[in-house]
Amino acid sequence: VSARLRAVQAARGDPRLVVLEGFHAVKHALRFGAEVTQLFAADPDAVRALAAELAPDLIETLAGRTIQAAPVVPEIHTGVIAVARRPPNEIEAVLRQPGAAPVVLLENPRRLGNVGAAIRVAAAADAAGFAVTGTGDPWDPSALRGSAGLHFALPVGRIQRLETRRPLVGLTPDGEDFTPGELPVGAVLAFGTERHGLSWPLLERCESRVAIPMRAGVSSLNLATAVAAVLFAWRLATGWPGSGPGVSPPAT
Ligand SMILES: C[S@@+](CC[C@H](N)C(=O)[O-])C[C@H]1O[C@@H](n2cnc3c(N)ncnc32)[C@H](O)[C@@H]1O
Repeated sequence: VSARLRAVQAARGDPRLVVLEGFHAVKHALRFGAEVTQLFAADPDAVRALAAELAPDLIETLAGRTIQAAPVVPEIHTGVIAVARRPPNEIEAVLRQPGAAPVVLLENPRRLGNVGAAIRVAAAADAAGFAVTGTGDPWDPSALRGSAGLHFALPVGRIQRLETRRPLVGLTPDGEDFTPGELPVGAVLAFGTERHGLSWPLLERCESRVAIPMRAGVSSLNLATAVAAVLFAWRLATGWPGSGPGVSPPAT
């Protein structure tokens, strides 16, 4: 392993840093303001060509930075890998303040792939934030792979205790039928674990418990799919802020 890639291995074990794997993840992270400290590629010129083709908004950002040539691990598609600083955890502040857009809360999720996929859809729908309880780190490399680097598009973090002034809505297959237009403004949308669903203590705190209607015989949706269904039903019912879908990302 080259000295350069040893820096990437060290970053994997450092809670202040995150590792971004693949061009797609690096592109999203840069676009949403990540502080990328090191960028490696098997072929730096190919990365600039890829940016010209897939992310012209980042040509200038990439022009000003060093892409170090390094033999990146073959299973990483596009041969690009980067190290970025993990942003401060702002999710507790987001939960404490009221707001217009909902916050997604996953209670003790078990599969980091689900966490990443749910973060990706929360970023796409422009949710206000994304919180998890339990022991899993939502910034784990497996979750970052699943989100394609979109962790940087909204506050994402783990919480020890839920302290919020926002209305709490529990998503559970045995709840009342979900009516997207009636979701309380700025709700915390709570989703349960893959196997057991929401815990009783959290269900008890919810001001409403709602179900995404399903065909008879289907017991539940996959966790990340349920997050996608609710967020996009809410989005389509309430419309987009600003100029509509595809609103320009923040300048990097
Ligand atoms: C795989 S499901 C868990 C299934 C679990 N046996 C249960 O009954 O809740 C994971 C989570 O996705 C959400 N979910 C899945 N399907 C849903 C539906 N039809 N309505 C509301 N929430 C749903 C819930 O938050 C659930 O806790």
